[in-house]
Amino acid sequence: MAEVNAEQAALWNTSGQGWARVQDTVGQLMRPFEELLVEKAAERPRRRVLDVGCGTGGVTRAVAAATGAECVGVDIAESMVAAAREHGQAEFLLADAQTHVFEQRFDLVVSRFGVMFFADPGAAFTNLRTAVEPGGELCFITWRAQEENPFMLTGDRVAREILPGMPARDLDGPGPFSLADPARVREVLDGWADVEVTPIDRTTRLPEEVLLPYLTNMGPVSRALREVPERDRDRVLDRVRGAFDEFVHDGEVSFPTATWRVTASAPL
Ligand SMILES: C[S@@+](CC[C@H](N)C(=O)[O-])C[C@H]1O[C@@H](n2cnc3c(N)ncnc32)[C@H](O)[C@@H]1O
Repeated sequence: MAEVNAEQAALWNTSGQGWARVQDTVGQLMRPFEELLVEKAAERPRRRVLDVGCGTGGVTRAVAAATGAECVGVDIAESMVAAAREHGQAEFLLADAQTHVFEQRFDLVVSRFGVMFFADPGAAFTNLRTAVEPGGELCFITWRAQEENPFMLTGDRVAREILPGMPARDLDGPGPFSLADPARVREVLDGWADVEVTPIDRTTRLPEEVLLPYLTNMGPVSRALREVPERDRDRVLDRVRGAFDEFVHDGEVSFPTATWRVTASAPL
């Protein structure tokens, strides 16, 4: 498995352990995007839904609960799939969505930030199209540019301050911002019909006390912190926390997010 996307599989398998620890926090933070996908799923009766890059499976379960459809979550990282399977309520498949030959045909494919990591996105979305019934739909949420997402920009800057040698994010290669350009989205969805790319601006919120657990388990800050010697950790954590002060007000963390909601359908 995962020969094409082996590097991403390894990265996410390590990250998945942190994600599993703070999955309730991730669920809370990302709730506005779960709601958009549930809304899409509930637009009409669904028989079978696929959630791509499902992580620990929060969206898969929410769609299953809202629609009563048979829901399958697919993810390339073993640690994510293991955490998802602990909850049940849906089927969770360990596979590379770019290359896996899906046995079932779905009437809807959804994804919350799970489709930006393919080595060959065009091939991946073609593969997903073959897993969809004619007339079936696709709906995913992806990040707009890093500059429009100040919380992520701060995370990236802080990680680089902790570890100055950390390689800069490749904004075009597999990664959170690889589909930030709508022209690129349309290009990789070649063969899909009715492509619509809609900007979504949402403020997301967290209680202040989960900010540090979140940052130390997820994303670039957590990766940089792995390299910090134990004796320096508390001092570095103080600096990390201070860098996010601008997002904390009255015991709550809140920040604006800029994403795209992308929808398309498989030609009849
Ligand atoms: C940013 S996380 C999003 C997780 C989940 N959708 C959520 O919103 O909580 C991206 C997920 O995509 C998965 N992923 C990356 N490349 C993949 C691939 N080629 N096939 C399947 N899953 C993949 C990762 O393992 C990770 O769980």
